[in-house]
Amino acid sequence: MDSTPIDEARQLLHDAIIHYKGKPVGTAAARDLNLASPNYADCFIRDFFPAGLVLLNDGKPEIVKNFLETVLELRNLQREVSGHQIHPGVMPASFHIEVDDDGNETRVPDFGDRAIGRVAPVDSMMWWVLLLGAYVRKTGDRDLAQSDRFQSSMRLSLELFLRDTFEVFPTLLVPDGSFMIDRRMGVYGHPLEVQALFYGLLQTVLDLLPDNDEACRRLRDMAANRIKTLRTYIRIFYWLDIERLSEIHRFKNEEFGTGSVNMLNIYPESIPDWVDTWLPEKAGYLVGNLGPGRMDFRYFAQGNLLAILFGLTTPEQSQNILNLYTARWDDLIGAMPLKICYPALEGVRWKMLTGSDAKNAAWSYHNGGNWPVLLWPFVAAALKSGREDLAEAAFEQACNRLPKDQWPEYYDGRMGRLIGRRANLYQTWSATGLLLSSQLLEQRQGLDLFPETPEIGHNEPSP
Ligand code: GLC
Repeated sequence: MDSTPIDEARQLLHDAIIHYKGKPVGTAAARDLNLASPNYADCFIRDFFPAGLVLLNDGKPEIVKNFLETVLELRNLQREVSGHQIHPGVMPASFHIEVDDDGNETRVPDFGDRAIGRVAPVDSMMWWVLLLGAYVRKTGDRDLAQSDRFQSSMRLSLELFLRDTFEVFPTLLVPDGSFMIDRRMGVYGHPLEVQALFYGLLQTVLDLLPDNDEACRRLRDMAANRIKTLRTYIRIFYWLDIERLSEIHRFKNEEFGTGSVNMLNIYPESIPDWVDTWLPEKAGYLVGNLGPGRMDFRYFAQGNLLAILFGLTTPEQSQNILNLYTARWDDLIGAMPLKICYPALEGVRWKMLTGSDAKNAAWSYHNGGNWPVLLWPFVAAALKSGREDLAEAAFEQACNRLPKDQWPEYYDGRMGRLIGRRANLYQTWSATGLLLSSQLLEQRQGLDLFPETPEIGHNEPSP
């Protein structure tokens, strides 16, 4: 009997599992024998997330526990990169197991000190905490999260994320390439994806940190407060629909003082030409980035979808983001779900913002490529918002192509019709994204693994 796409995806997941001293501890990023780069043999923290959820849904929490513990131990191994101390809360982007001639195994982490471009993995701590939250929700094993090691890890991360900075915004300031888009792409500052993950982390930690001592209580209060300010800020200032675009189009500038409307001094002249014709009437989205004098109007899929999933958007905003998908299906889903960002940077903008990065040429890789792994947040966000039809349509498209194309990492072209020029084949999260989507959609399993969204003080002011 022919194997189904789901059987094949399962086999890929199984083959990708890596072991340390006989125990399964993670998954290699790809099983391709002609890897585009040797670091794809590493287990990436963010890549393991969908694999971890699949394993939890399958009733195999042991490997998830091993992974969580391994990453925690690795964090303690390395304190110095390029001559300066890294904060003890920082987690590696990835790790691999090295075996010497005598068969001794060593775990080798990468804190960005080996990564291409030496990028700092800001999102690792967030994915790790989210996976811990899912593990606790699935197994009910609160003891692991309550253990001293795990508690101190969460506190360290929280202290790092909540410490005082030079900034006046509730959003988190990060360098370029510090998350899934781990190359220079003009995504420094306050990229939406990091804000959505930050929101998910805060909610998870609030659920897992006890309030039995003064220091913990102080952190919990700070986290609860940040959840509210972050949510209000994102819902108001990142939101873009046709009404808001009209307002921005007519913005006054140089407003000084507390009563300003155009608080960030965005110049209407900075609105790109494509926006007003592309934005449909009954739709909207959260913009990609926001800072002083800067609104990045590009649409970034993962940030918007995680925002829906974690309740960072209002229910109405969630519907409007999904309306954007129905109205712009070819642009945002195309031949292979899903477009990572829209539109691509071209010409001088590509040169300036990517540093002429050939891998990130227009409509390829991070710069407007289509990534199968993004299917799972789309399916989850659509199901959470009662839009099963969208989830099914995208899922079916992915099922029809992925096994035939040998599970590419990404696709190229405006509609994502071509297998990515430098894409690995047998990319693990392309398979686990499909598996998780099938569990969510066909078995109705797993939507409860994401952070809850208490709507404290829901009536947020409009801009
Ligand atoms: C690429 C992706 C990154 C991913 C890694 C391993 O660097 O940009 O998000 O974690 O490959 O798959």
